[in-house]
Amino acid sequence: MLKTTFLCLVALPLFAQKQPLPDPLLLNNGKRITTANQWRTQRRPELLERFANEMYGHSPGRPSTMRFEVFDTDTKALGGKATRKQVAVYFNGKSDGPRMDVLLYIPNQVKGPVPAIVGLNFWGNQSINADPGIRVSTSWMESGRGNPYIDVSCVVNHRSTEGCRGINARQWPVDSILSRGYALVTAYREDIASDEKSTMFTTGVQPLYPEFQNRGDNFGTVAAWAWGLSRIMDYIQTDKRIDPNRVAVFGWSRLGKAALWAGATDERFALVISHESGAGGAKLFHRGVGENIRRLCTVFPHWFAGNFKKYMDQDTLLPFDQHMVISLVAPRPIYVASAEQDKGSDPEGEFEGAKSASSVYQFLGTQGLPTSTMPPLNQSVQGQIGYHIRPGGHDVTNFDWTQYLAFLDKHIKKK
Ligand code: GCU
Repeated sequence: MLKTTFLCLVALPLFAQKQPLPDPLLLNNGKRITTANQWRTQRRPELLERFANEMYGHSPGRPSTMRFEVFDTDTKALGGKATRKQVAVYFNGKSDGPRMDVLLYIPNQVKGPVPAIVGLNFWGNQSINADPGIRVSTSWMESGRGNPYIDVSCVVNHRSTEGCRGINARQWPVDSILSRGYALVTAYREDIASDEKSTMFTTGVQPLYPEFQNRGDNFGTVAAWAWGLSRIMDYIQTDKRIDPNRVAVFGWSRLGKAALWAGATDERFALVISHESGAGGAKLFHRGVGENIRRLCTVFPHWFAGNFKKYMDQDTLLPFDQHMVISLVAPRPIYVASAEQDKGSDPEGEFEGAKSASSVYQFLGTQGLPTSTMPPLNQSVQGQIGYHIRPGGHDVTNFDWTQYLAFLDKHIKKK
């Protein structure tokens, strides 16, 4: 008995040794694919299914009764620079049902359909700019988070107030985006799904699909946000001022996880920017560094599908990893970025995620990430995959946006 216990104790760490990173070009049956067509018709669907089943969850499609109502149009917004539009998306068509407000700024100086950047925001549409025309969010709002980058003292009883206009403007350089000829389209995360343990699955889209919530492959909040991004894309396809073939999806942190999954699942997004997305985003779990699956599944139990919990403490042994999610975007351009002090996101793990997806990009005849070693601080490398790491902490800075706008110019400005 004693002997068996001892054997188990020594044997476990041996068996639990790190496993090599799985190869995205090997089919589930172990065979290597050899053609781009096999990637499209066999391997890509296999990977999508695996990640939907084991990690993010299966999401519903576009609701048949969903409707859009443009409730605001101002052709002289922001001092005449932009046309501001606001659209209520009624997910089930009912005016008293869940509603997502989409805010659009379209540059006036450009004639014809423009490329666009779509991204969810953390603190309501009114937070991204002080523009008094933006409808102040009425959805639940997080308050008092120890976030050094934003003052949320304007949030009262978990609701936004007039004082919350522009509180997050620093991270959304609307002027630069518009001057470069891009439209900016955004919506608030809580309009789509609750990001709060105590109210998880009770607001936004999830209550419309109760049958999903008893399943191990239920769509968690990250997948719900990605689903919301696809619904924004549905609207964009109806708006003549935006070119639906040149739409990039952007997100930071948890919303960067959602942007990545949106880009992986919805090929209408022409380009993806997954900014400091960390665990469940671009970071590899196999390194066993930074935030792990146990933390994700316990601190944020609503983010991923129930099935993901079975991988707690298995980070370095996973039969899949995040480079495979990045590769689902291929051959479309994707940018992954890190910050030096953002240790939870494991910058090196994010870099390795981007680098390890390169094999698929190259297999499909594109450049992938044009470096195999981590670039020095403040140096952006840009192939079909882009990457940079800058000094500082978890944040979105002007430096980050400068690189993103260059990447966008390179890939979708004049497509
Ligand atoms: C937490 C969480 C991260 C997440 C981040 C954010 O730090 O652990 O996974 O990316 O919040 O969204 O700000």
